Amino acid sequence: MKKSIFRRLFITYGITIILGFGILALVLMKLFSQYFVDSKKDLLLEYGQKITQEIAIGLYAGRLDRETLNQDLRILDKFLDARIWIIDRDGIIFGVSGTKEEQYLGQTVDKEKLGVLYRGRNIIETGSFGGKFKEPVMTVGYPIFYNNVFEGAVLVHASMPGIEKTFKDIYRMTVLAIVFSGLLAYGILYFQIKRISVPLSEISKAAKIISGGEFQKRLEIKTGDEIEELAKSFNDMAESLEKIEENRRNFIANISHDLRSPMTSIKGFVGGIMDGTIPPEKQEHYLGIVMDECQRLIKMTNGLLELTNIQQGKVEVNKTDFDINELIRRKLINFEKDITKKNIDVMLKFFDDTAMVKADKTMMERIVTNLLDNAVKFTEQNGYIVLETREEKNKVIVDITNTCSDIDDNKLKNIWERFHKGDETRGVYKSGFGLGLSIVKEMIILQEEVIWADNLGDAIRFSFTIEKAK
Ligand SMILES: Nc1ncnc2c1ncn2[C@@H]1O[C@H](COP(=O)(O)OP(=O)(O)O)[C@@H](O)[C@H]1O
Ligand SMILES: [Mg+2]
Repeated sequence: MKKSIFRRLFITYGITIILGFGILALVLMKLFSQYFVDSKKDLLLEYGQKITQEIAIGLYAGRLDRETLNQDLRILDKFLDARIWIIDRDGIIFGVSGTKEEQYLGQTVDKEKLGVLYRGRNIIETGSFGGKFKEPVMTVGYPIFYNNVFEGAVLVHASMPGIEKTFKDIYRMTVLAIVFSGLLAYGILYFQIKRISVPLSEISKAAKIISGGEFQKRLEIKTGDEIEELAKSFNDMAESLEKIEENRRNFIANISHDLRSPMTSIKGFVGGIMDGTIPPEKQEHYLGIVMDECQRLIKMTNGLLELTNIQQGKVEVNKTDFDINELIRRKLINFEKDITKKNIDVMLKFFDDTAMVKADKTMMERIVTNLLDNAVKFTEQNGYIVLETREEKNKVIVDITNTCSDIDDNKLKNIWERFHKGDETRGVYKSGFGLGLSIVKEMIILQEEVIWADNLGDAIRFSFTIEKAK
């Protein structure tokens, strides 16, 4: 069987509970019995002393005969639940507290014990009293001195079964209390551990389902503790996975779609030339279109490759100092033809003749080219483009603004995504692949700069930061 958290916690806590209660029980019982034995001993000692005084005064002063002595002892026996012996200075038993005790009359007490008493000390011991009793007893012995002469002793024996019965009662009560509270504790424990282990195994099951490809699986755990937090994080993770999966699907669908239309037109035109549908005098025109389509396909694969390389960390940032104003002017020249054709009004607003920055120059060229390409492509006939650089603390900010009639905030959100294009039915949008801005964004992030787009109502403005050269 697999080791479950439930089993492990249950056993660990179980052992702790049993050990805890067990030790507590032992200590309690030890204390109880100690107290019990001590109080019994105190009682015996107290009466032993009283009897000794009575006898010492009475017997040796001649006020007490043996008959009265034995009678007194018998009463005491009943009252104390103990047997009492009186011994003389040689250790011979001459007085007992009951008829059952008469068998001991005339017997002698151990030399050793007598020695202790002779020296004026008390005896306190438990056991069979030198083999005199079959069952264990507690014995208290008191020496009798009359006129400073050792005359004998009083020995009081309390039977242990009486003591042991009380012990057993205490023992039974303690065990019962422990078993009861242990069961109760275990019951509570059971539910507490279940509260942890059940949702955990639920999470584990859900994880298996998700790893099997069912990304829509979500957890519904309301424990109000860390487990609920875990389940929430798990759901967030499942959601990201679902999104990634969706992105992946869209990505493939987009590529396939974008590959198909140029391929189809290439196939159509080449086919037409081969079977003669396209007459020889028009062939050059259609081959030109085929060439354009091929160029477009190469552009797209290059763009994809570029993006993948950046995302896989294969592109290194190599920062140098250069003039960004000069770079913008130079790149702008490449678009002169389209700018004149569309009659676009281009304005340059540089805060200074030169603006030295520290950045990866190749990437900057790519970024500016892509942004200019978009600006020129999406500006309508007779529109305008403003290229501006400005200083802000240790950064240079580049703003590229162009007229754009159909822009709204919602559109702005998605423009950075791969394959995102504006209105597909319109020619300008059809021409691109929606990779330009994704590449720009990745390159800006690589250089630890920021880029953003603003909706100016009738225009769109792209802005990005560059580190100022020192
Ligand atoms: N300067 C701009 N003016 C208006 N729309 C723009 C501009 N730049 C980007 N866009 C919008 O963002 C989309 C994504 O841009 P981009 O990633 O460069 O892809 P593409 O140029 O291939 O269409 C464009 O299709 C367009 O809808
Ligand atoms: Mg573009």
